[in-house]
Amino acid sequence: MSGKHTTILGIESSCDDTSAAILCGNKIMANCVATQHIHQKYGGVVPELASRAHQEQIVPIIKEALVNAKIELKDIDAIAFTRGPGLMGSLVVGVSFAKALSLVMKKPLIDVNHMKAHVLAHFIEVEGTTAPGFPFLCLTVSGGHTQIVEVHGPNDMNVIGTTIDDAAGEAFDKAAKMLGIDYPGGPELDKIAEEGNPEKFSFAKPRIKNLDFSFSGLKTSILYKIRDLSIENPDFIKENKIDLCASIRKSIVDILLEKLLKASKDKGIKTLAIAGGVSANRELRRRLLSLDQNGYRVHIPRFEYCTDNAAMVAIAGKFAFERGEFASQNVSADPRLKW
Ligand code: KG4
Ligand code: ZN
Repeated sequence: MSGKHTTILGIESSCDDTSAAILCGNKIMANCVATQHIHQKYGGVVPELASRAHQEQIVPIIKEALVNAKIELKDIDAIAFTRGPGLMGSLVVGVSFAKALSLVMKKPLIDVNHMKAHVLAHFIEVEGTTAPGFPFLCLTVSGGHTQIVEVHGPNDMNVIGTTIDDAAGEAFDKAAKMLGIDYPGGPELDKIAEEGNPEKFSFAKPRIKNLDFSFSGLKTSILYKIRDLSIENPDFIKENKIDLCASIRKSIVDILLEKLLKASKDKGIKTLAIAGGVSANRELRRRLLSLDQNGYRVHIPRFEYCTDNAAMVAIAGKFAFERGEFASQNVSADPRLKW
């Protein structure tokens, strides 16, 4: 099956998704994800529970990936795993498993930076799409991350903007919670917003001059507006939920796109890409795609490669494999792994 192409097993366990993928050449043969639903009832990821769930799921998910790709462990050329950043108790499960597997199977180990992997997901070969040309800017937006990355090559990228407080997904989830929508509320808020008037309510805008993001002012502004208007009318949220969702969504997307376009102008780079769970947001996608007809090149990967997944770890591993960069058995998980 693997033929002459390099075959990489990717393992991802940085947060609350346990994932295993098989990459052959630049194509994904399997990308299996076990999402942990247990966190829903706590309104956020509980690290201890995440770690336990990874331990339960890691063997079955790797078996599933091998079965789906129709290969055996012996066919693999290397094992790529997420070293960080992420939650310690989650990372350690994937790292320890990868190290043990490498010892037993005598296969080389490759440590991967989760954030770089999000960017490199764009290089997974998908029929009908082309990878972004260098240089490009990648907006990585999820429940844990908000970054603008300037990418000149698979091993040549810099963070030029990041959040100084909440991540974009967190901003969606926290705003949704204020409206009584269950965690993670981002997708539901997005759905409700489709019917609403985005101009009905306006909220405070961040005043940060550089390429960094801030969502805490917006969050406070939403909270105060809801609180004040609910004093006047106890049914305020119920009666205005749809317009509130649309207005909040517009405010968050405005913040994201304003900075992405500023970065594009500052750097003179008109190829734009997006990664992370928030790239599922309908408003963000529409507005990004409309740029595509206005002198920009916009790349949006398949959703399964946007959210946390091992396919992106495998493709990042393949680039490292080609450079001959391997990890030793002394490698350890690093929750604050630097860029
Ligand atoms: O990448 P992801 O699956 O997991 C990590 O956080 O790493 O991203 C999940 C985040 C959550 O905050 C979720 O609310 C947000 O992405 N999200 C959305 C949408 N779909 C997912 N936010 C806004 N609109 C959406 N359609
Ligand atoms: Zn991620």
